[in-house]
Amino acid sequence: MHEKNTHKRTIRSFVRRTGRLTPSQQRALEELWPEFGIEYGHALLRLDEMFGRAVPIVLEIGFGNGETLVQQATENPDKNYIGIEVHEPGVGHCLLKARDAGIGNLRLIIHDAIEVLTNQIPLDSLSRVNLYFPDPWPKKRHHKRRIVQHDFLGLVADRLKAGGTLNIATDWAGYAEHIDEVLSQSDRFACAERREHDGEQPLDRPRTKFEQRGLKKGHRICDWCFTKFTNN
Ligand SMILES: C[S@@+](CC[C@H](N)C(=O)[O-])C[C@H]1O[C@@H](n2cnc3c(N)ncnc32)[C@H](O)[C@@H]1O
Repeated sequence: MHEKNTHKRTIRSFVRRTGRLTPSQQRALEELWPEFGIEYGHALLRLDEMFGRAVPIVLEIGFGNGETLVQQATENPDKNYIGIEVHEPGVGHCLLKARDAGIGNLRLIIHDAIEVLTNQIPLDSLSRVNLYFPDPWPKKRHHKRRIVQHDFLGLVADRLKAGGTLNIATDWAGYAEHIDEVLSQSDRFACAERREHDGEQPLDRPRTKFEQRGLKKGHRICDWCFTKFTNN
């Protein structure tokens, strides 16, 4: 008798893009990683120890080339920042920007953010999670790859401190509808603010690279700030 195949295929929110590392990005990954990098692993991180101080922590999922992340870390020296990204050239670019900015309040992880949240980020440890212009996966058969799903909200809410926020932005109207729907069904988050605009009113964040691309194509931008309910 054939054994039943019980292996569940993981649905990921990204495909590894084949962008090549420039020589300077490659060097940054080698030389700057010891300063800014955190290896992916299965042990919970001791975040305050890692940064050498206990201040609010902001985590960004899918930071792309990291310019927005470095800008925020530079403008808010009183906070610590963690960025998660799977695209190595983007990480290399971010490392170079972080070095140029001379900041010490930023750490980066190269891995699937779902697994990092699950295995490395302690419960009740974050003040804010930023998700800016997540891959929209426009085709219907790919909607299941969208990172904003019921289970993702639970994962994030559990790692936010009481009163912590989840900040999302998208330029994709279909994804905006999806986000409105999934979040309206959530018992973990309340919508504190929602804004639609043409790039002139980003909600408590700098403009991002993917936002610029969307604006050039005439897309409208939607920004949200969701607050974690304090009773769960
Ligand atoms: C459309 S880009 C947006 C990049 C950047 N936030 C911006 O606005 O310019 C989405 C990014 O999320 C990353 N990404 C998608 N799913 C991810 C995951 N599960 N873990 C880490 N990074 C992810 C992709 O590699 C990609 O760089």
